[in-house]
Amino acid sequence: MIAITGGNGQLGRATALELLKRIESQQLVVSVREPEKAAELAGQGVTVRQGDFNDPDSLVRAFAGAEQVLIISGDTPNEVRIRQHRTAVDAAKQAGAQHIVYTSVVDPDPASPFTFAAIHADTEAYIQQSGLDYTFFRNGWYLEGLPMMIGNPVESKAIHFPGGDAKLVFVGRNDIAQGLAIVLTTEGHRNQVYEINTGKTYSFTEIANAVGKQLGESIQYVEIPTAALEAGMRSSHLPDFLVEALTGMSEAVKQHRFEKPSDTLATILGRQPKSLEQFLADSFTLNSLSAS
Ligand SMILES: NC(=O)c1ccc[n+]([C@@H]2O[C@H](COP(=O)([O-])OP(=O)(O)OC[C@H]3O[C@@H](n4cnc5c(N)ncnc54)[C@H](OP(=O)(O)O)[C@@H]3O)[C@@H](O)[C@H]2O)c1
Repeated sequence: MIAITGGNGQLGRATALELLKRIESQQLVVSVREPEKAAELAGQGVTVRQGDFNDPDSLVRAFAGAEQVLIISGDTPNEVRIRQHRTAVDAAKQAGAQHIVYTSVVDPDPASPFTFAAIHADTEAYIQQSGLDYTFFRNGWYLEGLPMMIGNPVESKAIHFPGGDAKLVFVGRNDIAQGLAIVLTTEGHRNQVYEINTGKTYSFTEIANAVGKQLGESIQYVEIPTAALEAGMRSSHLPDFLVEALTGMSEAVKQHRFEKPSDTLATILGRQPKSLEQFLADSFTLNSLSAS
């Protein structure tokens, strides 16, 4: 049996649907904070159990009987999330799981200015210390996060970001989900650390050119100071820990930390993952770029 956390989240739900193509629904448990929101999965025969990273007993109950547990990283500030993830690892072990698959991030270096990297570093180390088998998906930046990163170039004819000439790797959420489902249902993935991305790096100038090609007009990349990005986020009233993480992310970009292209996901999927260009083509509406 396979148990997955975050079954009501975007990646968790997509992974559950991919797993249903590969295993019987009775072999799948989704752990969610609010079971009533998982009615669609329950209707397909999936076992839905209440599980909260803040409630260790609930996770032990949620993971009961699972040989493999997929822990999808949460969304809280560092000190809280590190504790939550450790709780999930302990619960998987207590419930008798043999294999943990974990959604980490590209460059999980505690020294990175991207503050969330320290969370993933801690969780990866904690899983390795647990003695259970592990598979880490070091996911690139979500293609679906691009609109938030680059604003609306259709209107502004420009992309403003403090990225210099550094490059990043990206990946589509549905491709991650399919990759996770394959790893959870096929052999050969135990004790592996996978860089999960489209296999290509992009600078902001290249992103601007790709957007421009899609629009049939010129889009410029305009480098801005990190302080300007930070001021924009503060005026949007983002929580402090997110502002800190995202400004730190732009600093980490400039340190070339996210230049880790890999064909691992293509190998797992047996096809090329969705490219940034394809994402743009799928996502442009008449007046804006929308997350698909
Ligand atoms: N690589 C990237 O570009 C990128 C971008 C954004 C996020 N991420 C990471 O990837 C993860 C998955 O992405 P996503 O798109 O699926 O995000 P999402 O839709 O926001 O899902 C986050 C999931 O975390 C669960 N969660 C939060 N707190 C929890 C708790 N106390 N106990 C149990 N579950 C809890 C949520 O549960 P509920 O459904 O109950 O709310 C939700 O299912 C994110 O959480 C984040 O760590 C990566």
